[in-house]
Amino acid sequence: MSETKPAPQQGAIQITPLSEAGGAAITGIDLSETLSPNQTEAIRQAFHEYGMIVIRDQVIENDDQIRFCDAMGGTATRGKPADQRAQDGDASYGGAVHLVTNLTEDGKPLGSFGDGEVWFHHDGSFKEIPYAATVLYGIAVTSTGGETVFANMYMAYDRLPTSTKRRIDRLTALNIYDYATTGRVDLDQDISGINHWIHPIVIRHPDTGRKALYISPLITARIEGIPQDESDDLLAELFAFVDDTDIQFDHKWRVGDLAMMDNRCMTHARRDFPAGEPRMLRRTMVEGVAIGR
Ligand SMILES: [Fe+2]
Repeated sequence: MSETKPAPQQGAIQITPLSEAGGAAITGIDLSETLSPNQTEAIRQAFHEYGMIVIRDQVIENDDQIRFCDAMGGTATRGKPADQRAQDGDASYGGAVHLVTNLTEDGKPLGSFGDGEVWFHHDGSFKEIPYAATVLYGIAVTSTGGETVFANMYMAYDRLPTSTKRRIDRLTALNIYDYATTGRVDLDQDISGINHWIHPIVIRHPDTGRKALYISPLITARIEGIPQDESDDLLAELFAFVDDTDIQFDHKWRVGDLAMMDNRCMTHARRDFPAGEPRMLRRTMVEGVAIGR
């Protein structure tokens, strides 16, 4: 009998739903290896069905996370092309890799979005072509708090009264990402230097074809074409999804979690956490396509 150990193998993929409002845990995947076409397809399908997936117990580096995003539709970068990044050893891979952390080095923040609670938002809804997905890898997590809360925006739309659906079906809204605020955007300021874009309030998901509500309290500043007070009232009515726990679920982070969230049909928020505890997630983004009704 040979004593040779078998080479490590990817196991059978198992997909376990996390809640009535979406999310699924996937096991049997090792993202330090290149995914097979079958694995890639299984992950994509689960992602579209559940809106958020988490692949647990991963030990991966920047390159592995970028390869995963490439397999899921293409890694979004904010800088140089891949060949140049490799040549000059850019630690952020041309802006493709970003740390979400409260940690500092020599008094300077190592990343951004470091502390405390964050309101519900879609990543990238202030861009002309929003990111399809956000991919986060758990490097350091807090003992308590810091959960990412997801709200299923298909369900938020489905639960609206028919009259509201009719009213908002053709409306658009201004989405602004003001880094300086953690609450409602100040509309009296000059936004020409701040990222912003107008998108429909209801979008049709480019892959699933389902309609989703596309607004959030952190980013959506104003509904276009109606008076400000009407806009405020309508947004307040639509933002009620924030209080509807039936369409939400929490993700409690573990070290080694690789989570991918769909920025077209899910909003996410962050619960507060103890300021003294280190928290670090490595963030990469999957490129999107134009969104519309
Ligand atoms: Fe976010």
